[in-house]
Amino acid sequence: MRPTLFHGRSHGRLLADNPHVPFYVAGFADVDATDAAGLISYLDLCTRISVERKRAGYRDQGIAPGMHVLDAGCGTGDDLRAIAELVGPLGRAVGVDASRAMIAEARKRGLPSNAQALQASADALPFPNATFDVCRADRLFQHLPAPDAAARELRRVLKPGGNLMLLDQDWETVEIRGGDPALTAAIVGAFAAALANGSAGRHHRSLLERAGFCDVRVTASATRAPFATAYALMLSSAVECAKAAGVIDSDGGNAWISTLLAANRRGEFSYGVTISVAHGSTPARSASWHLGSRRASPSPTPRPRA
Ligand SMILES: C[S@@+](CC[C@H](N)C(=O)[O-])C[C@H]1O[C@@H](n2cnc3c(N)ncnc32)[C@H](O)[C@@H]1O
Repeated sequence: MRPTLFHGRSHGRLLADNPHVPFYVAGFADVDATDAAGLISYLDLCTRISVERKRAGYRDQGIAPGMHVLDAGCGTGDDLRAIAELVGPLGRAVGVDASRAMIAEARKRGLPSNAQALQASADALPFPNATFDVCRADRLFQHLPAPDAAARELRRVLKPGGNLMLLDQDWETVEIRGGDPALTAAIVGAFAAALANGSAGRHHRSLLERAGFCDVRVTASATRAPFATAYALMLSSAVECAKAAGVIDSDGGNAWISTLLAANRRGEFSYGVTISVAHGSTPARSASWHLGSRRASPSPTPRPRA
């Protein structure tokens, strides 16, 4: 159930500009059981401020004409459309998302003939072993209660020598200046705890290594956002999570946001969070591991010596 939403008095313009604010980000674990329209608006907002970052990600993964690419947790399909263009008519861009509403939205927005969007969970992918050259999951793993199963599935569907990219925030690293530090820490903690895997970013390396990926590279960087963006993307959700966890009541949530707004007017507000981008590859020469059952073992079975 979606919690009752916060409606502060002092930021009417923000609400008017974004009719769905405040969003409830923890709802991404099961979009169809919550406010799908709100979460679709949230993704549109994220995409608008992430175009460059997403393009750099496609380049980093070497996405090129003719490749078969899987986007796990594809949301509204914005990445699918961009990737379909990069892989061209001889390639294929496939998106999966657990949410029926997200897949319907991706299809409604239009997919080119070399792209498709399917409703499926990342931990039970409906593809044979070694189907894709490249897999990616942009802000999916923070919403997965069983991230290991999904990482193993992504490894299973990657061809030998293929590569995977994961991008997630580590929501336990949020830094907010402008409010009472103890209250802020409690609200941020409630937000991170409400997500299925709120500190996903800090576990990327061990997750990929456990799933059998090699050449694992992880880059963590601190990103900053101005008040309006931080409010839409995190602060409003954090209030909802803190209310649901009994950390604050409605008045307490309104007071916290008002304090941050006042700090912002004085130039004393700041917001930042660490984002982790991880890459891992499947071993290029161990082709034998994917010839067995559809659910291959997490680590490649070495080929017996002749
Ligand atoms: C934060 S959104 C990111 C969407 C997209 N990757 C983007 O960058 O815009 C997370 C997406 O993961 C989907 N999701 C959540 N659990 C999933 C699962 N088990 N398998 C596949 N998708 C899932 C949600 O429905 C949602 O569309």
